[in-house]
Amino acid sequence: MELQDKFVENVVFSFQEQGEKWLNDLPHLLHYCERKWGLSLKEPYTLSYNYVAPAVTRDGNEVVVKIGLPGQEFNQELDALQALNPKGIVRLLDEERERGVLLLEKVEPGTMLSTVEKEEEVSQIAASVMKGLVAPVENKKGLPTTRDREAELARICEENPTGLGPFSGADLKRALHVFAIMNTTASNLKLLHGDFHHYNILSNGRDSWIAIDPKGLIGEVEYDFIQFLMNGLPQEGAADVIANRVNRLTEELDLNLKRLLLWGYAHSVLSSAWTVDVTTGKYDRSFSQCPAIFKDLYERYYGHTIDDFLGKRAP
Ligand SMILES: Nc1ncnc2c1ncn2[C@@H]1O[C@H](COP(=O)(O)OP(=O)(O)O)[C@@H](O)[C@H]1O
Ligand SMILES: [Mg+2]
Repeated sequence: MELQDKFVENVVFSFQEQGEKWLNDLPHLLHYCERKWGLSLKEPYTLSYNYVAPAVTRDGNEVVVKIGLPGQEFNQELDALQALNPKGIVRLLDEERERGVLLLEKVEPGTMLSTVEKEEEVSQIAASVMKGLVAPVENKKGLPTTRDREAELARICEENPTGLGPFSGADLKRALHVFAIMNTTASNLKLLHGDFHHYNILSNGRDSWIAIDPKGLIGEVEYDFIQFLMNGLPQEGAADVIANRVNRLTEELDLNLKRLLLWGYAHSVLSSAWTVDVTTGKYDRSFSQCPAIFKDLYERYYGHTIDDFLGKRAP
């Protein structure tokens, strides 16, 4: 069985021997799925870390099979699919947790939000999909929280005291300080998607959109919009696009603007740090311009800097 090169590379890089074993077993697992659900599998989509392919059942229904390495990340995706509000998230038809298999509704036509050109429309769609999927936190207490994201940034700070990629040690520390204050003052926690952006929002028919691929996260809704705000930016004028998206989202939903911008600063540093390749020093330049954009917007709206904000608060 021919597997996509990038997919093989990603899996082996992230999971080493365990990943190689999983790739070797994949043909058997695919046959198993075909037998169990009476499926005929088709060519997979463009893959990154999971095997995802459309399939047709014996009675002609179109579905999607998603297979990942069994373990915590897979479990969290499955838990999130079961716990999020079905209005905004792809429907789970069946699953096998031990084997890392999900049987999903096929989203049709499945065009990504990244293909919509009009920015106004993009933000409106994102707002309505978010509104649809957010669930009460009582639904699932075991999923990761924005505290865990803070802990990840704390680890990055500790391991990189002189800085990482585009960020100085002081930049990382400032973002961690904002993260800590935001988590301490967080209220109205919800069950969120956890990886909400243009490539995980698909068209589900006329004027209808739905999210796929949740990681599951407990936190404030404002936090979950940051990954969306950072994606699909133009090469020139990213600041204006983010400012307009922020306006539109706060109009569409009852968001706290101040918290949205502060989360924007904190999460965009973390998310950019994730992209740094320590061997080559390369990082995502579109992402790494975002902390400065959130900082400037905060200053414009509130008349003082994020450092002033931090100065008034104990770490
Ligand atoms: N339920 C679905 N319906 C239609 N297409 C899907 C569905 N799930 C995934 N896809 C397609 O497969 C791609 C990869 O799936 P995704 O769940 O995002 O995997 P990953 O976790 O590797 O990012 C998506 O970008 C999308 O094009
Ligand atoms: Mg995805």
